[in-house]
Amino acid sequence: MKKPIIIGNWKMKLDYRRSMALAQELATLANPVDTSDNDVVVCPSHSSFLLVSEILKNSGVQMGVQDIFWEDNGAFTGCESPKFLSEAGCKYAIIGHSERRQNLGETDAVVHRKIKGALDNGIVPVLCVGETLAERQQGMADNIIFTQVTKALSGIDLVSSEELIIAYEPVWVIGSGRPIDPEEAERAFRIIYQAVVDLWPLTIAQTNVRIIYGGSIDASDFRDFSALDHFSGFLIGGASLKGEEFWEIIKGI
Ligand code: PGA
Repeated sequence: MKKPIIIGNWKMKLDYRRSMALAQELATLANPVDTSDNDVVVCPSHSSFLLVSEILKNSGVQMGVQDIFWEDNGAFTGCESPKFLSEAGCKYAIIGHSERRQNLGETDAVVHRKIKGALDNGIVPVLCVGETLAERQQGMADNIIFTQVTKALSGIDLVSSEELIIAYEPVWVIGSGRPIDPEEAERAFRIIYQAVVDLWPLTIAQTNVRIIYGGSIDASDFRDFSALDHFSGFLIGGASLKGEEFWEIIKGI
């Protein structure tokens, strides 16, 4: 396994007070061994980003956001500049989460621009891909995953100083309380790996890209994924809101 990365996606679930309380809990739990063996990232809401970042600044836990815009600067009301975020200490950006694709109509073309905007500003994109239940039932899952990765990344040259995370998140599993069967996750990882190898030189695919899983992971089932081919970590929603459980996963991965 490459160096594991565990990313907490706090979604729009915590106001700034609860975000600060969770950050305090993580700052207490964090220790240098866990945060050097693993990359640990939290993605609070924008309204809490700086407060959380201040609390976690010496903890080894890194900061990410749940979305980003592609332009650095300009008349783009309500958008979050990757340049400004980078200056504020943001290291990672979740891009193309299914909740944004579904609720805000984000297309693969939009996702592509955001990936580029993040990379241009030294932010590591966390590209989310995954099929809906209907797509799976129609036998389209493999094709959807391959297409989402390819459309998001075609035309981007990942260079050796850059990194990318791709999170396989089956849409129908997110928040359901049960992760997908590990064998099914591994099948998706292989498809993602293939798409990446088709786009970029092998050394870049092998060294600069990590593939992770997201969807109802908690402390009871994360171990089932550790031995899978191409697996390098988790994107965690619900269980990342419970400090001790989140840290149990980090220690045990
Ligand atoms: P979940 O969310 O762990 O609560 O299923 C994961 C995600 O949406 O990133």
